[in-house]
Amino acid sequence: MIKEYLENINIKETNEQLVSLKSYALTNNVPIITDDGIAFIKQIINIKGVKKVLEIGTAIGYSSINMALYSDCTITTIERDNEMYDKAIENIKNGNLQDRITVLNQDALEVDESTLGKFDLIFIDAAKAQSIKFFNKYKTCLNNQGLIITDNLLFHDLVVTPIKDRNLKQLVRKIDTFNKFVVEQMDFDTYIYSIGDGMSLSIKKDVIK
Ligand SMILES: C[S@@+](CC[C@H](N)C(=O)[O-])C[C@H]1O[C@@H](n2cnc3c(N)ncnc32)[C@H](O)[C@@H]1O
Repeated sequence: MIKEYLENINIKETNEQLVSLKSYALTNNVPIITDDGIAFIKQIINIKGVKKVLEIGTAIGYSSINMALYSDCTITTIERDNEMYDKAIENIKNGNLQDRITVLNQDALEVDESTLGKFDLIFIDAAKAQSIKFFNKYKTCLNNQGLIITDNLLFHDLVVTPIKDRNLKQLVRKIDTFNKFVVEQMDFDTYIYSIGDGMSLSIKKDVIK
């Protein structure tokens, strides 16, 4: 009920490309960020004056295009699936954002992160069982005032639901392990929010000293 109330009261997206990408994602079962999740990220980008974003998990480019349209940041985004990569490239071209968004068609665990440069914000939104690996690998790419946002930490509320399916149970256990891991990182100040599908915001501690 609260979700519906907020959906009705908040101003709806009117950008034609974003509306059409969202509808494409829904029809084709492509998982994309929720409305409140992307609103949260865009507000952080604007409040903090984020200039460079690294995204792990592009899918069709919905979140990257969204971030690019509502700020002046540049985005590097990594996608391992060839079909998703092609679709993202097509969508980014259609949005005329190719000089602001670079898509790498690679497995994010195999990218040489030392070649990417430094980023103000890293958005982790790829294979949910690998979040600890992504966090540890890519935290080295953060600027001094860097932020890491990780999505799907509540995994459709399954982190608090009894599960019978063995594979799903294992995946949810890994997400729970990530959640415990991320709040305990001493070099970051982290809080997990019930925004979107559950998002953590981790601020590199040198920011707040
Ligand atoms: C949830 S979708 C990303 C959605 C996108 N961020 C958005 O909100 O529009 C996750 C994507 O991550 C990709 N992915 C999963 N594991 C990956 C990995 N190890 N390296 C690169 N991409 C990966 C999947 O192929 C999928 O397209």
